[in-house]
Amino acid sequence: MRLSRFFLPVLKETPSEAQIASHRLMLRAGMIRQEAAGIYAWLPLGFRVLKKIEQIVREEQDRAGAVEMLMPTLQLADLWRESGRYDGYGEEMLRIVDRHDREMLYGPTNEEMITEIFRAYSKSYKDLPKILYHIQWKFRDERRPRFGVMRGREFLMKDAYSFDMDEAHARKAYNRMFVAYLNTFDRLGLKAVPMRADTGPIGGDLSHEFIILAETGESEVFCDSTLIDMGAPGLDVDFDGDLQPLVDQRTALYAATDEMHEPERFARDVPAERQLSARGIEVGHIFYFGTKYSDAMNAKVAHPDGQERPVHMGSYGVGVSRLLGGIIEAHHDDAGCIWPESVAPFGVGIINLKAGDEEADAACERAYSVLDTAGKEPLLDDTGDRGGAKFARMDLIGLPYQLIIGPRGLKDGKAEVKIRATGERHELSLDDAVSRLAEGAFS
Ligand SMILES: Nc1ncnc2c1ncn2[C@@H]1O[C@H](COP(=O)(O)OP(=O)(O)O)[C@@H](O)[C@H]1O
Ligand SMILES: [Mg+2]
Repeated sequence: MRLSRFFLPVLKETPSEAQIASHRLMLRAGMIRQEAAGIYAWLPLGFRVLKKIEQIVREEQDRAGAVEMLMPTLQLADLWRESGRYDGYGEEMLRIVDRHDREMLYGPTNEEMITEIFRAYSKSYKDLPKILYHIQWKFRDERRPRFGVMRGREFLMKDAYSFDMDEAHARKAYNRMFVAYLNTFDRLGLKAVPMRADTGPIGGDLSHEFIILAETGESEVFCDSTLIDMGAPGLDVDFDGDLQPLVDQRTALYAATDEMHEPERFARDVPAERQLSARGIEVGHIFYFGTKYSDAMNAKVAHPDGQERPVHMGSYGVGVSRLLGGIIEAHHDDAGCIWPESVAPFGVGIINLKAGDEEADAACERAYSVLDTAGKEPLLDDTGDRGGAKFARMDLIGLPYQLIIGPRGLKDGKAEVKIRATGERHELSLDDAVSRLAEGAFS
């Protein structure tokens, strides 16, 4: 992409309405624009990151055996009357009436709809197990939308739903999602800790929130610090094998959100030097809820003994749009964003220090073409702006690598590579710089 052609409306001033770094940086770097409270347009730079996050979430869902589909954003109120949630959901639900006076709503979640779809087609234990998911916009009329995409009203969520014969089988689906989440967040450059969360009236131990630590997080959390650096299981996990040990290894250690916090147990079970109390951002939430919806909505399957019983379900959410904010909170400095390579909007920023200079232009075009062919998704700053402005803008948008090309260096055939995360600079021959960037030698 050439910057002269791109749409990158960076702001010089720090927007006063933004209270946390990620919100400020997303506005300043021209990633989002607020259209109404908690409702954002995704500008091209932000949209590129959103798509990358979405794709990683998708790949890890698929790897874990979940199957993608797409449900609509608009739903019939009657569906929610079946589960009894239409009246209970309250003011957070955006209710809509169509031209035929039919009551509808903009979906805040999809348990009812997926249960309705499942019951229409699946009648036997032989249709099980199944995990279905979609990545779709949700609307929740939050009382206090804030922190940009962190707590929006319209937001993108991956929500998966599992269907099993009984609790023992449902636990396997739960474990698949548990492990998939660890790998997903790891690929996104995040250290997300599964923490015990409230299961409400259903009880049991099968609800975890995945939390990344950040001072600006909305949740208060308590955990054994060992969990923070435990690392992910890795992409070669056998999802058809027994995942329980991987799950137990983590759930054996104390980690709870404030609703579930037991101060005495924390003090007793966690050595003092490992007692971490901090703030965190909920980026995912997994939940086994048994037959709550299948009972209410009559979603039954025949078991081997011929008896029909309600199917056991779980739901598994990831806040895809919230993750942009979460990743920035974890990876930024005073100058701007520092994207992990896996989600960076572009792989390399090429700075032409003297656009219009024949030699500099030609060198930049050559570098661009090699990096483009190598799949590095280069962004070439070919604008006529001053060097200082170009450096600041490139730092602000936070691409992992910068290739700086100017007439002075070119006299000796040289260019500079800057690693955004560390600030390290390497002066190299232009050819070396380009080929090493193309090979990913600086990763
Ligand atoms: N208002 C919101 N804005 C952005 N992301 C949200 C919002 N509400 C929920 N999410 C994301 O969706 C995931 C699943 O939502 P869920 O657990 O149902 O929401 P909640 O915890 O608010 O009840 C959450 O873990 C979070 O990452
Ligand atoms: Mg939640």
